[in-house]
Amino acid sequence: MEIIIQQSDRAASVLAAKIVAAKVRQKPDAVLGLATGDTPLMLYEELVAMHRNEGLDFARVTTFNLDEYFGLPEQHPSTYRHYMEEYFFKRTNIDLRRTFLPVSAGRDVEADCRQFEEKIKECGGIDIQILGVGQDGHIGFNEPSSSLASRTRIKTLTQETRKNNAKFFSSPDEVPKHCITMGIGTIMESKQVLLLAFGSKKSQVVAQLVEGPLTAMVPASILQFHPQAKILLDDSAAAQLRRRDYYEWVYSNKPNWQKN
Ligand code: GLP
Repeated sequence: MEIIIQQSDRAASVLAAKIVAAKVRQKPDAVLGLATGDTPLMLYEELVAMHRNEGLDFARVTTFNLDEYFGLPEQHPSTYRHYMEEYFFKRTNIDLRRTFLPVSAGRDVEADCRQFEEKIKECGGIDIQILGVGQDGHIGFNEPSSSLASRTRIKTLTQETRKNNAKFFSSPDEVPKHCITMGIGTIMESKQVLLLAFGSKKSQVVAQLVEGPLTAMVPASILQFHPQAKILLDDSAAAQLRRRDYYEWVYSNKPNWQKN
């Protein structure tokens, strides 16, 4: 794990955007794994700005989102498809036919999940997976106790996650109880992972996922096993890290040949 602490959420998002942009420039048909929630909004803003100002080209890029609510009508404004269109897709030249979210009409959920996984494989796997983290340690919608080897499937949200996500709905009761999410095993197969976490409300879970034991009760702790995981934090999200000085020392002494 590489722990990168920046002064602000903006600075950390700029850094994440530069890593994504470098990949897209080097591999124009890159496969990106995308996340939703508040955390990646600035990252998308930066990528949109790079598209407009520097001609960053998404025409051949393929995207797979981590998760989607189950049971919301397609035209509902709180779907993650809608979020992605609003903040990223419609502001770039991405080809919507190459944007995938784990959805199911409900007739054969398992087959739809399998198909999503097959599509990822068919595209050569995910080059960079963007992740946020829930305060309970969930990644995607893999809530605590999710199998660390899980694949894309239907999950039941915790009441806490439903409450946190109520901000994207007109009333808390409207938040679906179920979702479809990439599994933890699926996420772990992506070639590189960028997990972003900002603000003091994430400081405890950040300490758990970086320095705590590997446990299904903190699904994000599985990233300790990922060979290419960067954890991008702002100052307040890093506040409870015991070895913060060391991570800052490592980052400031990173050899040039190792910069990526
Ligand atoms: C949501 C999403 C996650 C996201 C997390 C954190 O439930 N499914 O992918 O990372 O919660 O959300 P936020 O970034 O708004 O704190």
